Parts: sequence; structure tokens; C-alpha cells
Amino acid sequence: MYRTHTCGELRLEHKGSNVTLAGWVQRIRNLGGMTFVDLRDRYGITQLVFDENSSSELKDKVSELGREFVVQVIGQVRERSSKNAKIPTGDIEIEVEKINILNSSAIPPFTIEDDTDGGDEIRMKYRYLDLRRKVVLENLKLRARIGHETRNYLNEKEFIETETPVLIKSTPEGARDFIVPSRMNPGEFYALPQSPQLFKQLLMVAGFDRYYQIVKCFRDEDLRADRQPEFTQIDCEMSFVEQEDILNMFEGLTRHLFKVIKGIEIDELPRLPYSEAMEKYGSDKPDIRFGMEFHDLSSKMKGKGFKVFDEAEYIGGICAEGCASYTRKQLDELTEFVKRPQVGAQGLVYIKYNEDGSTKSSVDKFYGEDDLKLVLNDFNAKPGDLVLILCGKRTKTQTALCELRLEMGTRLGLRDKNVYKPLWVVDFPLLEWDEETNRFYAMHHPFTSPKPEDISLLDTDPGKVRANAYDLVINGVEIGGGSVRIFNSELQSKMFDILGFTKEQAELQFGFLTNAFKYGAPPHAGIAFGFDRLTSMFAGLDSIRDTIAFPKNNAGRDVMNDSPAPVSLDQLEELSLKLDVKEK
Ligand code: AMO
Repeated sequence: MYRTHTCGELRLEHKGSNVTLAGWVQRIRNLGGMTFVDLRDRYGITQLVFDENSSSELKDKVSELGREFVVQVIGQVRERSSKNAKIPTGDIEIEVEKINILNSSAIPPFTIEDDTDGGDEIRMKYRYLDLRRKVVLENLKLRARIGHETRNYLNEKEFIETETPVLIKSTPEGARDFIVPSRMNPGEFYALPQSPQLFKQLLMVAGFDRYYQIVKCFRDEDLRADRQPEFTQIDCEMSFVEQEDILNMFEGLTRHLFKVIKGIEIDELPRLPYSEAMEKYGSDKPDIRFGMEFHDLSSKMKGKGFKVFDEAEYIGGICAEGCASYTRKQLDELTEFVKRPQVGAQGLVYIKYNEDGSTKSSVDKFYGEDDLKLVLNDFNAKPGDLVLILCGKRTKTQTALCELRLEMGTRLGLRDKNVYKPLWVVDFPLLEWDEETNRFYAMHHPFTSPKPEDISLLDTDPGKVRANAYDLVINGVEIGGGSVRIFNSELQSKMFDILGFTKEQAELQFGFLTNAFKYGAPPHAGIAFGFDRLTSMFAGLDSIRDTIAFPKNNAGRDVMNDSPAPVSLDQLEELSLKLDVKEK
């Protein structure tokens, strides 16, 4: 037996027991004749003591120890004279009688402690060492618990957990596919799934009724803090349901997870139509931990001779409470902020509602006190508040104002990580027009059903058609998304038509689905949660990277095993790819 207890287990009640522990040497301290060693495993840290009375053989062994050596110790639990309240085992220590060095260790490239001296890149290169750190391990443990609780909830609701293939057919919609050459079928390729979308719909045709899977998905897209090329979804589908049933079922899952994982009772989730989300927050994933909603100021601010406003398609503002005391420097900072290319505004107009009731603005030349008061009243502003205004093309300005709102929210401390405000954003547009390619794209995916009351618009004004599609948003992050599906082959063909597929292309790409629909497809709908994002939200992290055991960096590389990497010419030849490479 390697150990009788773990390094996180022993307490005062074990005083006098003879125990065997095993783990890694975290730290060695020599104090006069005494040596203290912190022994660490997944469960915690226990202090080992070697004192003057230790045998010389034992003392020799201890002098050989280095950081991260793997050892087994046998000894007796005793009460510490100076206790450490910071760790659960802080009342005791082990008076070591015997030590076995199970393995030595090279000097680790960074300290394996919560506050490490290792930078990002080095920690990623030695990810297995980074994972020894408690703060990182805790995220992975949290992830496992969320997975477990998700399974509990869905199993209890009689969802069938089903695996779907990873080598599938490439589909042109959505993000770019990762493709995999087929040795046995020269010149042909599989794709890795961007999601199991079509397979879960086929499982509904098969009569599974309720399906789920915690599943790896792959998307070859540009990476950000909340995007990885391979990530995990909690993917679900149900039959004989309407949008309402899905929202209720998955609001239930969300509440269950908040309750068991965070101990928080979540109120009923508000539902916000997409159009309203854009008007009020300039985003389809609004952070509603704070208000600061947009006001359209066009009618109040046009026609006063200020050319920039007069010519703007949209003038929108927000009211930052208590910020009228902002200095020139602070206002300049905000102007710089909105002018950054990522935000893209031309400039920033402010109106201060001074504590004494007077006003001061950056456009005093064009607007008198009465004009400015009208704007302030629109916001119900109080003396001491500051109104910030942007103008320009409607969507672009709303997007920029969204960034400014979030920035002000952060500056004012209104985005507390321990406060959670989930909501459903509903009624997304079915289609999105792309100026570059001059065609419509499906906003969610091509299998999303239009709202029945909007179907007639498909022929006359497709851009206006709303979908039975919904997103779960928490604190400004899109955690999940889904839709009611088209289950009628004719409507599906019409969708393909609107999306610019010829009959032949649609048949080639999606024939297996439309064909299946000929055999009695039930009405169905579903949703997928981003598992990494959900975990990161619960862990209070800014990036999903630390919720993944072995993540990729921002260039899509695994710096630990140095992939992607070239393969041998023989391998390429076997895959019938050699010629193409030579031609390049
Ligand atoms: P969607 O594309 O909205 O829907 O994806 C669902 C959820 O997956 C997460 N997500 C990601 N997480 C990390 N890295 C990425 N690159 C990434 N891309 C997406 C998000 C998102 O909300 N098949 C549909 C679902 C359905 O209709 O049922 C789908 O994949 O949290």
C-alpha cells in the first residue's frame, strides 16, 4: 500500500496515528537542526518534520531531496507548535521515521504554487506542471462537477446520452471546417464536426425523443479569449416540443447548476427580443448586471446646426451616474477609448449635469442649456451624472456604444464577477445579409425554423423574417444557443434556395438529412451550451483556456507537444497528398 491517507486528510483527531503518505515535495525549509518539507498531492499539503533526533540515514535522504521529488513517508502525526490556519491540515505535522524517494525531479521551470513566477507561454509548455498548481486544478475539478451535475439533471429527465461521429462530411455553412484526408478514399476528406447538429436531428427522426452529449466540437476560426479551435458543447435535442418547452427545460438546467455548484438561487430568466437587445445595449449578448441603457437622441439633437449630428444616421447615448466630476483627462481617455480601431467611433460628445444644476458639454456652441436639459431629462439624469454620446451609421455606432457602456460599467465597478444575471435573447433574425458576397446567410444555421407568423415574408422581405432561435446569455457572454428546427422538407428546400444553394448542391451537401425527413420527422428543437464558457463563468475566469486541461494558444498551437507539425512525405503519399504539396 503506497499510502494510508492523502496529503489533505489528516487533522488533530489523528494525533498519535502512524501514517504513510505519498506525494511531491513542494518546499524544503531548513531551520537550524530542523528540516520542514511540504508534501503535496491533489488533495492538499501536509508538513513533514525531520529534527535533531532523526537518524543520520534519514538526514542523508532528506539532504538529497529537491523540489518536485516524488516520495513516500512513514511517520507519526503530531500537533504543531505553531499552527497554520490557512490550510486544513495546518494543525498537524508528520514526524517522519522513514522516507522512500520514489522518483527524483529535474528543477521545475517555474514555482508550482498558486502565485507562480512562470509566464503564460512557459506554463503552457509545461502544462502538466501547471496542472499541479491548486488554482488550475480547481478549475478542472469544477469542470468535472459541472459535467457530472449536467448529466444528473439530463439523465433524470430521460435524455439519452449518445455519441455521434467525429469523422463526418464537410458542410460549407458556419465557420471553416478542419478536414481530414481519407487514406482509403484517395482525394476525399472527412471534416471534424463544428457541432453534432445534423446527427442530433437524425436521432430525432430515429425517435430518440431526448438526446444529449457532452461533446468535442471543432471550428477553424480566429481565436479569442472565449474561443478555442476545439471546445466542448453540452449538446441537446428534444422532439414534440416548442420553443417554450426548450426554454423551460434549459432554464431548469441553468438553475440546477447555479444551485448545486454556486449555491445561488437564480430568479426566473428575463426574455429579451433581439431587436430590443440591439436598441438598448447594442449587443445580442447584453450584460444586464447594470442598466445604463441606450437612448436614441436623434429627435432631440438633430437640427441645431451641429453638422456631425445632423448628418448622422443614428445618435445614441448613455448616462453614467455620478460621473459629472470626470476631469478633462478622464474624458480624453474615454475619447481615446472610443476612437480605438476595435471600437471605431469618430469621437465622443459629453454632457455634464453639474452638482449645482448647471450643464457643461463639449457641444455648448450648438446647444443651449434648455436643449441639453431636454437630453438629460430623457435619461432621467440627476445632478452629478454624465451623458456620453456617439453618432454615425446605426449598427456600427450601437456596437461602439456597447463597448463604451461596458467600459463605463467596469470603471464604475458594476460588473461584479460574483453577481450573475442570466437571460434569454429570443426572436433572432432568421437571415443575415452579407454585403461582400451579396447573399443571405443563416444567422444560426440553415435548419432553424422561421416564426410561423413571419413565413409569408420569406418571399417578399426575407431579411425581416424572425426565427424561433434563442441564446442563453450570462453577464455579457453567449453561453448557449439553439433553435426550433424546420421539420418539413419543402420549407427546408426553400431555405436552401434562399441561402443560394442550387437543388443539386443542397442534395449533395444535405441530401441525407432531407431524405431522412421524408420518413416522418417529428417536430423538434434543441440547444447547445458552451461547456468551457459555462465553466469559465462559474470559475470567474476571463478566458476559457484555464478550464481546459490541454488548451491551444492564440495561434491555435499546442506549445506543449508543438503541434500542428509537418508530417513525413511518406505519410502524405499514403494519403495521396504528396503531389499537391510538391506543386506548392
Ligand atoms: P452555436 O454555434 O451557437 O450553436 O454554439 C453553441 C455554443 O457553443 C459555444 N461555442 C464555443 N465555445 C468555445 N470556443 C468556440 N470556438 C465556440 N463556438 C461556440 C458557445 C455557443 O453558444 N448546433 C448549434 C446548437 C443548436 O442549434 O442546438 C450550435 O453549435 O457558448
